[in-house]
Amino acid sequence: MKNKTNWHKDTISVRGGLKRSAFKETSEALFLNSGYVYDTAEEAAEAFSGDIDRFVYSRFGNPTVAMLEERLALMEGAEAALATGTGMASMFMSMAGMLSQGDRVVASRALFGACYSVIRDILPRWGIEVAFVDGTDLNQWTAALGKPAKIVFVETPSNPMLELVDIEAVTKLAHQAGALMVVDNVFGTQSGQSPLALGADVVMYSITKHHDGHGRVMGGALIGSEEIIRGDLLKFFRQTGPMISPFNAWVILKSMESMNLRVERKAENAVAVADFLSSHDAVDRIYYPHHSSHPQHELARRQMSHGGTILSFTIPGGRDEAFALLNQLELIDISNNLGDSKSLACHPASTTHEGIGPEGRDVMGIGENLIRLSLGLEHKDDLIGDLAHALGAL
Ligand SMILES: Cc1ncc(COP(=O)(O)O)c(C=O)c1O
Repeated sequence: MKNKTNWHKDTISVRGGLKRSAFKETSEALFLNSGYVYDTAEEAAEAFSGDIDRFVYSRFGNPTVAMLEERLALMEGAEAALATGTGMASMFMSMAGMLSQGDRVVASRALFGACYSVIRDILPRWGIEVAFVDGTDLNQWTAALGKPAKIVFVETPSNPMLELVDIEAVTKLAHQAGALMVVDNVFGTQSGQSPLALGADVVMYSITKHHDGHGRVMGGALIGSEEIIRGDLLKFFRQTGPMISPFNAWVILKSMESMNLRVERKAENAVAVADFLSSHDAVDRIYYPHHSSHPQHELARRQMSHGGTILSFTIPGGRDEAFALLNQLELIDISNNLGDSKSLACHPASTTHEGIGPEGRDVMGIGENLIRLSLGLEHKDDLIGDLAHALGAL
């Protein structure tokens, strides 16, 4: 029973990483402290020299954060995790913590706007060569990874076009090129897709999304082997300070207990809404990995146990029509966040992907007539009713 690596994800999400204090509390305790005390000066010296393993300062580690990190790692079937203040802090750490001047990064071009900007705009300023490929095209991956690289970064499914990268095939090419494979698994979700089991080296999350799941606190995570996470990355983490606050870690620990249930229910809602939208006259096209219309449907079924909680669709027209549709929604909120228990809709071209400019959006195929939906926990009939009303009013 105590062998946590054999536990199912449902059990890990409730019990993984739990360490009770001397008070034997049932639920995880919140350690809202920055510092720690020592019985003797010798003990402090031994803690800093590494002779004893204990908490010394909450920028380095904190008991509540440590419980979250262990739960995240166990859920992924991994050895170690680091939890950060936002998803972007984790994404940036996966680059800055491992790269040096002269290194090369190859990435799929369909990425969340801020991840795309870090690779396109920030890394080259520091002498790092970057190359983008169409992540759906294995020939482009083969060509780009014909020369050495240090990191391959992908997001699958991608935000907001739901494009997939074949994790297993691209990881093989990445390893042949000497690169580590980093996967942004926010859309895949921790219950629906396991990049490490497909060979990837590091999994990245915005735990702001499905892990919190109620639109409250921010967080991020990098998960992988002891060697990768507790090597250069840990050194970078401790010196530069991107750690998550213990309070946010405590909120997310509690949320994770119901994460699998919530994500599965949201994914069921996404399937129902995808079916409805795909047969609606006022909808041009839908993008949802487990829908038969998805061009990589076979890969989606192989790589993802469910299709995720997000779908996108296009309507005839442009920005005016997309705004008119959003403004007609009465139940689904207009918001650029995702993974909430409330269903949310947004116009990526003017919000999440505004910052990458028209050229960036063209590369990703994000049109003015695209709408992204993050499905929540409401009843599917109410969601479909709201969309039917808004589409009917167009
Ligand atoms: C796919 C993806 N990756 C990374 C991030 C960044 O996460 P955060 O907002 O927690 O920094 C987001 C945020 O929307 C995202 O959708």
